[in-house]
Amino acid sequence: FIGILNSCNSSEGDRKKISIGFSQSVGDDIWRTSMNHAMEVEASLHPEVSLKIYNANRQPKKQIHDIEKFIEDKVDVIIVSPFESDSIVPVIEKAKIKGIPVIVVDRKVNTSNYTAYLGADNIEVGRLAGKHLVSISKGHANVIQIYGDLNTSPGLERSLGFKQIVKQYPGIKVFDIDSDDFGHPKTNYIKLLDSLSNIDYVYAFNDLIAYNAWKIAKDKGVDKKIKFIGVDGLNGPFGGIQYVKDKILEATVLYPTGGSEAIRLALKIVNQEIVPKNNKLNTILIDSLNADIMSNQFDKITIQQSDIEQQQK
Ligand code: AHR
Repeated sequence: FIGILNSCNSSEGDRKKISIGFSQSVGDDIWRTSMNHAMEVEASLHPEVSLKIYNANRQPKKQIHDIEKFIEDKVDVIIVSPFESDSIVPVIEKAKIKGIPVIVVDRKVNTSNYTAYLGADNIEVGRLAGKHLVSISKGHANVIQIYGDLNTSPGLERSLGFKQIVKQYPGIKVFDIDSDDFGHPKTNYIKLLDSLSNIDYVYAFNDLIAYNAWKIAKDKGVDKKIKFIGVDGLNGPFGGIQYVKDKILEATVLYPTGGSEAIRLALKIVNQEIVPKNNKLNTILIDSLNADIMSNQFDKITIQQSDIEQQQK
């Protein structure tokens, strides 16, 4: 696990420690390592907090096991960023029965038996991408939509919101392509690029897919004809904001990780404050007009060597 235990000095030693367990679902993507980092930074600002992070590495069984461990350890709050929406339900409900509050971040779960949910509205994310595409294409475009995982709420909702908007414009034609869980476009993307010479836009469900799609188009010499729109909008090298500044992406939609907000929410819950069940994070479209302002607005993400290797695969 990646852990942060704040050392106590003698006066703080008497203060009750608050243990927070975070179950992260994916370890090899920078949006998630940024979420972990934001949690660690926020936790370090509260000397009474000890934060333990387990990484399930895309294995639903490991994620269940990690949450079981937090229940056994009787942590004060469990934060979960789920990989799957269904398999995780019994263990979340078990935590609730054992009296441990559970905060769900990002992907939704198919139960309402948790304490609070935190995340941006992915339907709105899809709508923002759709509205931007409509506005720059004036309602006429051939678009490849590259899914993340449609078994996840962000996957489903980013598609739903996008289609709600573009279906109002008969001049917009959308071709759907899959990706391996929010990473690389599947090979039928290459086939589509080869068979259709008139693709104008790619809307991908995160910046990593968008970047990989752009790289494939560049290798084929067609990148200049296509505009790429992604989601996440991380700040720093390999983040969507930089890709917009570098003109690799036409735009990205900010999808905040919620790392620091999750820790603050956990502290409110431990302090018995009443918190909303649904805690919405704001989103915004980032294009060349606001990319500079947005990159000055946020802390830069910390990129580790492993992240760089992952992005370069
Ligand atoms: O579940 C949300 C997605 O997961 C983020 O947009 C993505 O980049 C991450 O892997």
